[in-house]
Amino acid sequence: MNILLFGKTGQVGWELQRALAPLGNVVALDVHSTEYCGDFSKPQDVAETVRRLRPDFVVNAAAHTAVDKAESERDFAQLLNATSVEAIAREVGAIGGWLVHYSTDYVFPGTGEKPWSETDEPAPLNVYGETKLAGERAVQQHCPQHLIFRTSWVYAGKGNNFAKTMLKLAKDREELSIIADQYGAPTGAELLADCTAHAIRTALNKPDVAGLYHLVASGTTTWHAFAELVFDEARKAGLPLALKKANPIATEAYPTPAKRPNNSRLNTEKFQREFDLLLPPWEQGVKRMLAEMFTATFN
Ligand SMILES: NC(=O)c1ccc[n+]([C@@H]2O[C@H](COP(=O)([O-])OP(=O)(O)OC[C@H]3O[C@@H](n4cnc5c(N)ncnc54)[C@H](OP(=O)(O)O)[C@@H]3O)[C@@H](O)[C@H]2O)c1
Repeated sequence: MNILLFGKTGQVGWELQRALAPLGNVVALDVHSTEYCGDFSKPQDVAETVRRLRPDFVVNAAAHTAVDKAESERDFAQLLNATSVEAIAREVGAIGGWLVHYSTDYVFPGTGEKPWSETDEPAPLNVYGETKLAGERAVQQHCPQHLIFRTSWVYAGKGNNFAKTMLKLAKDREELSIIADQYGAPTGAELLADCTAHAIRTALNKPDVAGLYHLVASGTTTWHAFAELVFDEARKAGLPLALKKANPIATEAYPTPAKRPNNSRLNTEKFQREFDLLLPPWEQGVKRMLAEMFTATFN
């Protein structure tokens, strides 16, 4: 099997390089790749990459993910998250291949408390969500053999993430204020990559799994409770923290250029049923990543 991976250096892309390796021949590209174009600001060129390589599966982990920045650069976000995705989807559709693509809880308006299902009507609150929704729709329209995974609150050991930011702040500050009225599930890039590899294997034998899925770790938390778990684990590991108090605050107390949904809960029943997988509790992946981070810090 031939697989083309876009966005190889991102959180999810990095883990996909590992998880896809045993499935076949993987050509992994990023924005700087030279032999084949992996730059999503050039829709015709990324489409040309697909035309030249004719892979069985294209996995797209590239995206404009800077949620606040997207508010002031709508055209660029649209180019990366929708226009190039459409160009690729048309090309993969034309060669009869599969396209695996990632989307976001930010396609939903964040109202209520019920976990969103795949059949619920999206209504994004911000530009990032709008452009990601446009990308989803392009994939659905132009490439019948697709897997779209909507996920949320992605973290990885590589690069910056919420847990690392909280730890850095907690080392220096005695008091922090953290949003406690947005609900969702922190989801590890490792889990997403492993589930993707499994889903690709399933799709090969059972093509009718094509479709849209919600894919996040189990359980629900808030940014505040997520941070509390990070601080608890750090203290258990003996890390010196200056922090004495983590205050829970409302979203309105921390204004950002992009509006965020309060309810980012996603219902994953369809994914677990169709792919016969059990999504682990969110704490499991977070604790694992922290344990790896703390080991690296001590050694
Ligand atoms: N992060 C989250 O919390 C979250 C939540 C829900 C859904 N998702 C979705 O999950 C997927 C993977 O996200 P992630 O967390 O792995 O994001 P990420 O770490 O920000 O990775 C995005 C990748 O896209 C690349 N990229 C940026 N501009 C590009 C361009 N012009 N051409 C090609 N690649 C470009 C980035 O490269 P550079 O690093 O070189 O800029 C990076 O490798 C995305 O579809 C995202 O929308 C993410």
